[in-house]
Amino acid sequence: MNVTKEGNKAINEAENGSVLTTIEGLSAVTVIGLGMLGNALANAFLKEGHRTTVWNRSLSKGQDLIANGALRAADVAEALSASPVVVICVSEYDSVRETLTPYSDFLSGRTLVNLSSGTPEQAREMSKWVSSLGAEYLDGAAMSGTRLVGRPEALFLYSGSPSAFTAHQSLLKSLGEATHLGEDPGLASLYDTALYGMNWGVLSGFFHAVSLVGKEVDASTFAAVATAYLPFVTSLMTDYSHQIEDGHYPNGEGTLDIHAGAIDHLIHTSQANGIRIDVPSLFKTLIDRGIAAGHGSNGIASVYEVIKTQTVYEEEQV
Ligand SMILES: NC(=O)c1ccc[n+]([C@@H]2O[C@H](COP(=O)([O-])OP(=O)(O)OC[C@H]3O[C@@H](n4cnc5c(N)ncnc54)[C@H](OP(=O)(O)O)[C@@H]3O)[C@@H](O)[C@H]2O)c1
Repeated sequence: MNVTKEGNKAINEAENGSVLTTIEGLSAVTVIGLGMLGNALANAFLKEGHRTTVWNRSLSKGQDLIANGALRAADVAEALSASPVVVICVSEYDSVRETLTPYSDFLSGRTLVNLSSGTPEQAREMSKWVSSLGAEYLDGAAMSGTRLVGRPEALFLYSGSPSAFTAHQSLLKSLGEATHLGEDPGLASLYDTALYGMNWGVLSGFFHAVSLVGKEVDASTFAAVATAYLPFVTSLMTDYSHQIEDGHYPNGEGTLDIHAGAIDHLIHTSQANGIRIDVPSLFKTLIDRGIAAGHGSNGIASVYEVIKTQTVYEEEQV
């Protein structure tokens, strides 16, 4: 492949990039960055039959993709010129800039989908920069690690140009469920960060629970029961989201006062079993603060009222 800037311009002008669309309605796509996630993304596009061009800074990566039919671009200019949609997945936003800046003229007319992790501010800055180069921008977040990529249950979140999302939604569905959160390019990153924190909350509870039952029950035996318990937890999330929106916390699932006692049992049992109590201590702190703020007779979603403020408590002051 040998594409000059002039050639690239001609391609852009040719019927809005339609020359870059392959036969039978399948799209051409470029993936820049073939680390763990980028490799999985390219693989998923290939499996769906899309013409997939790849580029990685070091040549050591991507051999498997080439063996499976991917085209290796000689440089970033070729990579950008090869497809109307360019997916970039490198370590961080600075690496995105470092990779693309010398070849920024080649972005014109393309849609850049950035699946590298960053902050909402970085996403908004990136969107401005990419738009100034005559390209469309979608910021993305891969919410299912690498393990589910290419399967319908893999969740990918996008924000930014609605028209770019509509135009390329079917291509993006090769990676998994594609959800567009809104025009603000920072939204995917915001959700990504929030869900990452939630994942830690759930998993730290799981790690504590496995430790607690550990002397008597295998982790995998416990996990099977815990997984069956999760639909109840997700149903609570739905109910509690409405309570939070209403600012009203009915106590049908027990008051904070009642839960304070239950958490004490959890802490006591943990100590009796010789394991650390960091995780339930966090729950206790939140419950105690909710009670101190007057929510003792409310339901547990009222701890939201404590978390959402920036109140600094006495023992936290230095
Ligand atoms: N892995 C996951 O499960 C996962 C899930 C969600 C989100 N993410 C996000 O996806 C991004 C990539 O993650 P990963 O797990 O694929 O990382 P990784 O395996 O460490 O790969 C990093 C990639 O970035 C490239 N890179 C780093 N700095 C570069 C630079 N200055 N210029 C050009 N290329 C550069 C590397 O190229 P070289 O090979 O040349 O070093 C490599 O292709 C990260 O932002 C990560 O947070 C990952």
